Amino acid sequence: MPIPRSLTRRALLFAVAVFLCSALTFAQQQAASVGGRQWWQRAVFYEVYPRSFADSDNDGIGDLNGITSKLDYLKRLGVDAIWITPCFPSPQVDFGYDVADYENIDPMYGTLQDFDRLITEAHKRGIRVILDFVMNHTSDQHKWFVDSQSSRDSAYRDWYIWRDGRGPGQPPNNWLALFGGPAWQFDRQTRQYYYHAFYPQQPDLNWRNPAVEKAMFDTTRFWYQRGVAGFRLDAVDRLFEDPELRDNPIRPGLNSFGQPNMEPKYTSNLPEVHDVLRDLREVADGYDAVLIGETWTSNINGLKEYYGRHGNELQMPMDLMFATVNELSAPEFRRQIAAVDVSGGWPVYLLNNHDVVRSYNRYGDGQHNDQIAKLMAALYLTLRGSAIMYYGEEIGMENKDPESKDDVKDPIGKLGWPITKGRDGERTPMQWTDGANSGFSTATPWLPVPASAKTHNVESESKDPDSVLNFYKRLLSLRHTEKALLDGDYIALNADDPNVLSYLRRYKDDAVLVVLNMSASEQSITFDLSSLGLASSTAQIVLANRREHRLQRPLRSITLDPFAAYILKIPR
Ligand code: GLC
Repeated sequence: MPIPRSLTRRALLFAVAVFLCSALTFAQQQAASVGGRQWWQRAVFYEVYPRSFADSDNDGIGDLNGITSKLDYLKRLGVDAIWITPCFPSPQVDFGYDVADYENIDPMYGTLQDFDRLITEAHKRGIRVILDFVMNHTSDQHKWFVDSQSSRDSAYRDWYIWRDGRGPGQPPNNWLALFGGPAWQFDRQTRQYYYHAFYPQQPDLNWRNPAVEKAMFDTTRFWYQRGVAGFRLDAVDRLFEDPELRDNPIRPGLNSFGQPNMEPKYTSNLPEVHDVLRDLREVADGYDAVLIGETWTSNINGLKEYYGRHGNELQMPMDLMFATVNELSAPEFRRQIAAVDVSGGWPVYLLNNHDVVRSYNRYGDGQHNDQIAKLMAALYLTLRGSAIMYYGEEIGMENKDPESKDDVKDPIGKLGWPITKGRDGERTPMQWTDGANSGFSTATPWLPVPASAKTHNVESESKDPDSVLNFYKRLLSLRHTEKALLDGDYIALNADDPNVLSYLRRYKDDAVLVVLNMSASEQSITFDLSSLGLASSTAQIVLANRREHRLQRPLRSITLDPFAAYILKIPR
């Protein structure tokens, strides 16, 4: 920990003692609570987009002290860890995913001391802190790249991917950037192209260079030593490219930037990624830290690979296939859950993040949106696995997409307009109150607040027993206390039902039944659990997404209103 120079020797000793005590108490508390599981298997993670969470200095952009001021809220909500998206110095071309210094905090978010205080305060509440590790690329303002670009002889030249063009004015091959345009940028001074999987301001690091690996691994150590409990690895599938620079195959059709669709055969998921992940995991294991992957895969085998053959890569590769199911389809969710549940790895479920349209909009029918938001929470927060929430989903926050191109902040939206409006819509300020700027800031926020903040905000929903927020609180509390939800197996039930998704979570004699009507019509369902050795003919509702008067339900016939969600206990 860096120590402020102004501290006297006695004050310094005192500060160190307080720090050690808080770290110890936290470690002891956590060790005691994990039982047979690793801490991250029991945890509910909560993604905080720092620009939009809470603005303590009222400049319209959220900050670290803002996050610290909301830790009590997060504790009451029932989350165990927060993942903060990049808060490092950055020109903010991609809102922090263009890092100019990996071992500092951007002044717009605060200081390293603010960060240390955030960690200490989080630990006091039993909350761990995860950071985002943008490993694939840096900002073009990072000192490594500035040097690398300065001359072909730079000591940092080989830290990035520099190549000659195919011919005059022609890039080395046909690779396209994910954010539009060619993936190669010509540098006039040194007369070579550099590769960027994303924006030109995000040059890709050369992970084949051991010096890059060492510097980046040391960055993780820097943060672990400051108390960070792990990382979410950004764009991890993009770390390596084909050394022969073979052209990617072209597929029919155009993408949202009007360019040909391209299969990322030579730019994504190369096998070398796994060597890096194994080594990074070794470092993480030394700190009892977790590695969460931004793992875009198109099938379960791809996802499985990220756990590592011997479970020695990512503990938590995100199941982004689950996160992008865009219809309320019981068969589709059932299929996906079954696939990941038997994959051998620990499942990781989420519905939202800063890159996808909020689930409130994706699943809502415009009439039963709150009920559906609760239904979806009842789904992914009762599955076997770890869960990652996204700020605001617990109050039913919705997307507010820009209305005109001039309003767009996210460069994807600027480039792709009007086919792609970008990601501003899912990054709007957290809705704390029904007051000005939803209580996020007294200044005009960097993105506008949706009109629904009047009804969907923390203050108002805290007072309403039927709110989405209170449903989440009850659900998270249940998830942390019910043995069957913590440690039970996942057993799919009534597997042919096209409308109702139902399953049992079972741990020894404890069984919880989850019944979710994903349709807009009334459904009736029958359960016969005798073959599972469960004799009871009734079940007790412990949580429902609507007010319930009769808490006992006969298993031979349960009637479900449209979009009804029940979590029931089966008596022993
Ligand atoms: C990841 C991030 C996204 C970012 C991109 C480039 O996909 O989630 O927000 O724009 O990487 O770093």
